[in-house]
Amino acid sequence: MTPGQGALGAIEATGFARAMREALWLYPSVEIVHIFGLAILVGSIAMFDLRVLGLARTLPVRAVARFLLPWTVGSLVLIVPSGLAMFASHASDFVANPAFVVKMGLLLAAGTNAAIFHAGVFQRAADWDVGVAAPAVARLQAVASLVLWIGVIACGRLIAYL
Ligand code: HEM
Repeated sequence: MTPGQGALGAIEATGFARAMREALWLYPSVEIVHIFGLAILVGSIAMFDLRVLGLARTLPVRAVARFLLPWTVGSLVLIVPSGLAMFASHASDFVANPAFVVKMGLLLAAGTNAAIFHAGVFQRAADWDVGVAAPAVARLQAVASLVLWIGVIACGRLIAYL
């Protein structure tokens, strides 16, 4: 594969990007790290969303958040570098891949939804911590979160097919 033009071509021409393309086990190993990271990220987010939706109501929602959120944030240490490494190897192909482009859009939407949740309704979580239903807006954002992250995973998998 000959590197493309411009900035993307410059990324593809780096020694590391070439090694990602040519070393037999490097790309698959990086992809395994990516998948392990996203399993922790989406797994921890999904468990929190299900608690907000009313499962295990006897568990204080703030305690659940205190346990799960460090895993959510920590998983990004695996996901982002591995994603960027894979991206660098075929940058110009990925930006032309609709599944990759939609995935990045859904990632932005999922991140924005989470930021609005934590800066908004979750600030008053003491009012709905144990045994009561979460406010409708919190449950709506939990459903949106589940749908968006399933979309990110689906698009991530479809990248290889488009
Ligand atoms: C943060 C949440 C993310 C999630 C949940 C996620 C999820 C996924 C999934 C499920 C796959 C398919 C893996 C497979 O089945 O082989 C994938 C592949 C990929 N991801 Fe991510 N990803 C995330 C972030 C990123 C980031 C930030 C980038 C960087 C640009 C990225 C770049 C890629 C690339 C290039 C592939 C294609 C690998 C291939 O098929 O060759 N991902 N991702």
